[in-house]
Amino acid sequence: MSSRANWGSKLGFILATSGSAVGLGAIWKFPYVAGKNGGGVFLLVYLACVLTIGISMVLAEMSIGHMAKKSATTAYRNLKGGLWPWAGRLSVLCIFVLLSFYCVVGGWSFAYLWLSLTGEVMTQDTKALSDLFNGFIASPTQSIFYTGLFLVATVGIVMGGVQKGIERTSKILMPALFILMLGIIARVLTLPNAMDGVMYFITPDFSKINAEMMIEAVGLAMFSLSVGCGILIAYGSYVDEKTKLPGATLWISLLATLACVMAGLMVLPAVFAFGIDPSAGPGLTFITMPAIFSQMPFGQFFAVMFFLLLIFAAITSSVSLLEPIVAFLIDEFNIQRQKATLMTCIAVFTLSIPAALSFGVLADFHIFGKNPFDLMDYAASNVMMPAGGLLAALFAGWAIWPRVQASLIAQDAARILPAFRAICAVVAPIVICVIWAHNL
Ligand code: PHE
Repeated sequence: MSSRANWGSKLGFILATSGSAVGLGAIWKFPYVAGKNGGGVFLLVYLACVLTIGISMVLAEMSIGHMAKKSATTAYRNLKGGLWPWAGRLSVLCIFVLLSFYCVVGGWSFAYLWLSLTGEVMTQDTKALSDLFNGFIASPTQSIFYTGLFLVATVGIVMGGVQKGIERTSKILMPALFILMLGIIARVLTLPNAMDGVMYFITPDFSKINAEMMIEAVGLAMFSLSVGCGILIAYGSYVDEKTKLPGATLWISLLATLACVMAGLMVLPAVFAFGIDPSAGPGLTFITMPAIFSQMPFGQFFAVMFFLLLIFAAITSSVSLLEPIVAFLIDEFNIQRQKATLMTCIAVFTLSIPAALSFGVLADFHIFGKNPFDLMDYAASNVMMPAGGLLAALFAGWAIWPRVQASLIAQDAARILPAFRAICAVVAPIVICVIWAHNL
């Protein structure tokens, strides 16, 4: 028996990887970041990032895993050694920070599921909805409780090892999420003034371009593709020899981008219809969506469905975040699985407490001008993930290029070699370094 697990099928692999990609990044983060950064112009820059750097990094990471048949740190060590394993360790740190603030937003989704069940959020009064949201995230007991609840749900799944269960439910719930979003978009577009929101989302205003928004676009492209923190290296390592990575890369990137665009079309027109400020920030989804549901027939039912699916999308992503830390502790330090999971869980929960308190008790506690939640989000999404993606691109494009080249030729992908190499070896490094330098 081979000691290395494989995906059951190509579809299973694509769905599991898309499950990691499609999550809070698309549904919660994309609309508010796009709203804050001028709408259409952000969409354009975001798409450009996905289609060039993002997609190449997905392929680079999956190729590394595919060739090494190991997760990040070990893969870097086995394929090249030297200082490269540090790229793997950086990815573990990145995931750790990411997961800690991800759980906070996952907790908000749980809370909103409850508030939809009780009907408390079923109002069109956006002032009341925004007060409710701000009151909720400011409450230390509630935000810590729901953060913990989300973490426990994630840990429960990883501990139980119900990999098959997740894969099987993904096959039903991911399509359900897309269908529900389509239905909501149809409702939103018929609201008065919704077209202003659509125009805001698709018409680029080039005067809004600046270094900060480019960093956010690169960061969000990586965040929404789950690139730059070794997850795709691990997922690529389970791919069998028959599956062709370039095709899978296209599918995964397409689904992740589609989810972002659909979320934008769901939230931004509603923002204009209800007269909310599009740059309102992280609360945007949680304030607009209930307002829309309260205007729909069977609104409460749809609200419950929406927050359930949001939790599901978030959990398939958070599971993919927890697993590599646990695998790292097992592989590198020989710690037993249950113990490793418990240790990770305690550490993540500890770090998520300051993130959970960032909108209440710690609202005025600023480091580098940001509260702990924003700082963790910024450090993970805009610094560590681009760095991790950059290292993977350099690794594939320079350090082990002959092997990558041979492997892609064997997968009938000789056509994409010149573009892929140019992006990994030159374009991505230059773009990321220029944006960073500009921001400093
Ligand atoms: N892609 C996930 C999302 O959009 C977040 C994530 C990032 C998950 C990195 C895994 C790794 O929600």
